[in-house]
Amino acid sequence: MSRWDDSVTETAEDAKRFWSSASLDTLHQMMAPRWAWEAWLQAALGGITEPGSVFEPGCGIGLLTEFLPAGCTYYGCDVNRDYVAEAVRARSRPGVVFEHRDLDDVLAAGQQFDWVVVTSLFGMFPESVTYELIERLWAAANKGMSITTVNKRLFGTHPRLRFEFTSHDPDELLSLAASLPEVRRVVLRHGREYEQFRGHYWQRGLVLHAWRDPASDRRPQLLPSLGRRG
Ligand SMILES: C[S@@+](CC[C@H](N)C(=O)[O-])C[C@H]1O[C@@H](n2cnc3c(N)ncnc32)[C@H](O)[C@@H]1O
Repeated sequence: MSRWDDSVTETAEDAKRFWSSASLDTLHQMMAPRWAWEAWLQAALGGITEPGSVFEPGCGIGLLTEFLPAGCTYYGCDVNRDYVAEAVRARSRPGVVFEHRDLDDVLAAGQQFDWVVVTSLFGMFPESVTYELIERLWAAANKGMSITTVNKRLFGTHPRLRFEFTSHDPDELLSLAASLPEVRRVVLRHGREYEQFRGHYWQRGLVLHAWRDPASDRRPQLLPSLGRRG
């Protein structure tokens, strides 16, 4: 179960409903303090080792694009119409595209990107669904994927806290990542490793980077040439 104030989500559908109708204010309250949120976005982008196309499922107001490495293009989608409108208003530029669209739709369409960057998407989702989603998102990542989440071992819940977010056990996350097809290298960084988070609430965060084996040929198969006969 996840909770934000009185809103409780227990299924993937609940999470979608919650996010589709959440206010801009809700997102801004979650993104506090802003310096820490931005630092985690930058930590997530640390997995990008060369320029390429970046996909952010659940882009919110598109803050990630402010820290995009040079030479990268970006596609972000979100189920919340108001968030996407704000992202477009404030951060749209050539090579940076935001769309009001469910991430399931992007995955079902089989779209591929070099890098998939998943930042704070999972908090209101059931934990089992997040593990399935990681596998499906990996299939869309030609070069690698990064994910930020919260460390279950450090993340207590309390009825007086205004939220209960889905968190992940570091070992479970690592073992899932290591079992992804064609994965070459996996790194899990803990918030305490980052100077700026020491002693701060946000040291409970985790960032997972997984890189695909460059030897795996993920280029689209060309159709056989339909040369003229006879
Ligand atoms: C906590 S916010 C994080 C926003 C952004 N990634 C960031 O870190 O600044 C989670 C976002 O995921 C979006 N979201 C949730 N479920 C989604 C889905 N099925 N498809 C697309 N976006 C979704 C929400 O609307 C929300 O904007």
